[in-house]
Amino acid sequence: MLGLKLPTDPRWVNIAEKNIGEILIDHAYCEQKAASSCISLIIQYPEKEKLREVLMPVVSEEWAHFRMVIKELDKRGLALGKPRKDEYVLQLYEKARRGGSIEQQLGERLFMNALIEARSCERFRLLSQEISDESLREFYHELMVSEAGHYVNFIDLAKEYLPAEYVKKRWQEWLDIEAEIIANLDLRGDRVH
Ligand SMILES: [Fe+2]
Ligand SMILES: [Fe+2]
Repeated sequence: MLGLKLPTDPRWVNIAEKNIGEILIDHAYCEQKAASSCISLIIQYPEKEKLREVLMPVVSEEWAHFRMVIKELDKRGLALGKPRKDEYVLQLYEKARRGGSIEQQLGERLFMNALIEARSCERFRLLSQEISDESLREFYHELMVSEAGHYVNFIDLAKEYLPAEYVKKRWQEWLDIEAEIIANLDLRGDRVH
């Protein structure tokens, strides 16, 4: 899905459904981090108007998602609790290429964001299809569609600031990196990733 090279282990969604409270808490923080990451890109690249134009509405959407997840937690009487270590995102950051031009550095950030959106989208799709709670299925379907749009936003921004050939090549490298990270991560039903 969305170019990802390794589908999620089918066992994940069953374990996740059994730990849906933990998934929702982790998910809330995924949305918060998505919003924060877009804000930080906007303020780190104030000269890039297109980036700002594209990402300002994404900040609002991610924050709306955060609020939606909080509502689901409230419905279940679950507290948000503290953020957890996000091994998947940490490993992506470790693999980012250091150095290069300002645009290439920006590209690394955009590719990582695109991958996180794509993997979230893939897992939300599984939740929207496989779990028994009808309202949560709809909830995850709506989010899946939205995150797919964000994936496109990040890839389009990479194409805006970097040559098409570079984007094509580096994106393929990132897809391989991501697949390797997923292959080596423990299968956890209390994490979105
Ligand atoms: Fe989101
Ligand atoms: Fe998103």
